[in-house]
Amino acid sequence: MSRTLPPGGDTGRLDGLVLGAPVSEGVARVAAVAKVRVAFACSACSQQLARWAGRCPGCGGWGTVEEVRATGRAPSIGVAPVALTAEGAAPDERVASGLPDLDRVLGGGLVPSSVVLLAGPPGIGKSTLLLHVLGSLAGSGHPCLLVSGEESRAQVASRARRLGVAGDALSFAPGRELPAVLDAARATHPFLLAVDSIQTLRDPAGPQMPGGVSQVRICTDALAGLAKEEGIAVVLTGHVTKDGDLAGPRALEHAVDVVLAFDGDPRSGLRVLSGGKNRFGAEGETAWFEMGAAGLRAIDPSGLLVSNQRVPGAAVALAQAGRRALAVEIQALIGSTDGPARRQATGIDPRRFQLVAAVLDRAAGFPVGRAELFGAASGGVRVDDPACDLAVAAALASASTSTAPPAGAAFVGEVALTGLVRPAASMPQRLAAARAAGCSVVFASGSSHAVEGVRIHPVHHVRDALGWASRPAGTRSRAVAS
Ligand code: TYD
Ligand code: MG
Repeated sequence: MSRTLPPGGDTGRLDGLVLGAPVSEGVARVAAVAKVRVAFACSACSQQLARWAGRCPGCGGWGTVEEVRATGRAPSIGVAPVALTAEGAAPDERVASGLPDLDRVLGGGLVPSSVVLLAGPPGIGKSTLLLHVLGSLAGSGHPCLLVSGEESRAQVASRARRLGVAGDALSFAPGRELPAVLDAARATHPFLLAVDSIQTLRDPAGPQMPGGVSQVRICTDALAGLAKEEGIAVVLTGHVTKDGDLAGPRALEHAVDVVLAFDGDPRSGLRVLSGGKNRFGAEGETAWFEMGAAGLRAIDPSGLLVSNQRVPGAAVALAQAGRRALAVEIQALIGSTDGPARRQATGIDPRRFQLVAAVLDRAAGFPVGRAELFGAASGGVRVDDPACDLAVAAALASASTSTAPPAGAAFVGEVALTGLVRPAASMPQRLAAARAAGCSVVFASGSSHAVEGVRIHPVHHVRDALGWASRPAGTRSRAVAS
């Protein structure tokens, strides 16, 4: 059964919340005593002078220099240090968001007084994820306030109904003006303040339009201050472009405690949430979701990203993502060209892609150096684990020779410029991922213990992993994995 949001009205009036007192900061504020000194300035051109003059040397005006009283230093607010463990220090408190996979990526749940940035391309599902979290927290008695500059209350309420989100303790306020958002949060003191999105928020006193780097920084700093002063957990959404490059969210990573990247292939329902910077937990954890008619559903991605079909140009990597590893299909396409040899990599590090191609050409004898090369990770995922190099080499070698890798094969190892393959960390997790994806042989360097049902094929040099791809010269053709 779905329930509607409480009637917050479009006036910013917030119902259904308990007013809370500010959290004690545990530090005493001490006003510094300012030393007053006398100085002079021109009332016409603002030129500052050490002593009075009848005529301003700046603008030449007569009788415009006036005495101004300035303080020796700006009246500052100091803080008296207190013992780190003194009463009032922030407790190591975590609150479950209601999405266990999200909590794992966060490092155990939401931390009061923290600021989380949920960054991703438009349409990936940030607002949907936010609404799941808000509904869950509100349902467990944690008052939440959603401020949206992107959608109206009617739109949010309709989506909440569709997602089956309970809204009894969830309040909504339309908001694009920073002071109003800060006032609303101070007045209602929610457990969680969600701002969707940081790019639509604006400080009227700041420069630029909303979404500009300065505005995004000013608003984020103000919300971070609010989080610390009031003990409110703040989640901000931020749009990034397809290549993750937009100035806004990137520019404010330093100002937030946790950065979560929400990504995936918009054409498929597969979504991956990855933890970046995290002041409270390990970086690099991932959670997988499927976007369906009823919103996001957590899924186990094992085996989802590999086709298990033997196709030339495709090789399975075992990529590390946080504490877990995942089998991902790496695909390669080789085109012929008379012009400049283009290289394009999607979901894999373009520099490593080029490097592996060069090593394959020079150290392993696969003539890919002058060809057009395309590489991709399946499912629209991004892998930035260097241990995927060997699978990239295998996919390129496979495409280059039109030979599919052996059935059930996966490849693990970082390829050095010399062609040597470095052993990878976390082999037990990688082998477990291989087994979960139905792989039975792993080409890898180093001495790792095999797991039941998965055999290790030891590899020292990149050539050792590509014996299956040897073909008589001249049989190279274009190949692609579907
Ligand atoms: P949204 O959360 O609005 O993305 P973002 O905030 O990152 O821009 O999600 C938008 C897409 O998700 C939209 O194309 C519709 C789709 N969607 C579903 O498929 N099922 C759902 O239940 C919901 C709420 C959205
Ligand atoms: Mg949105």
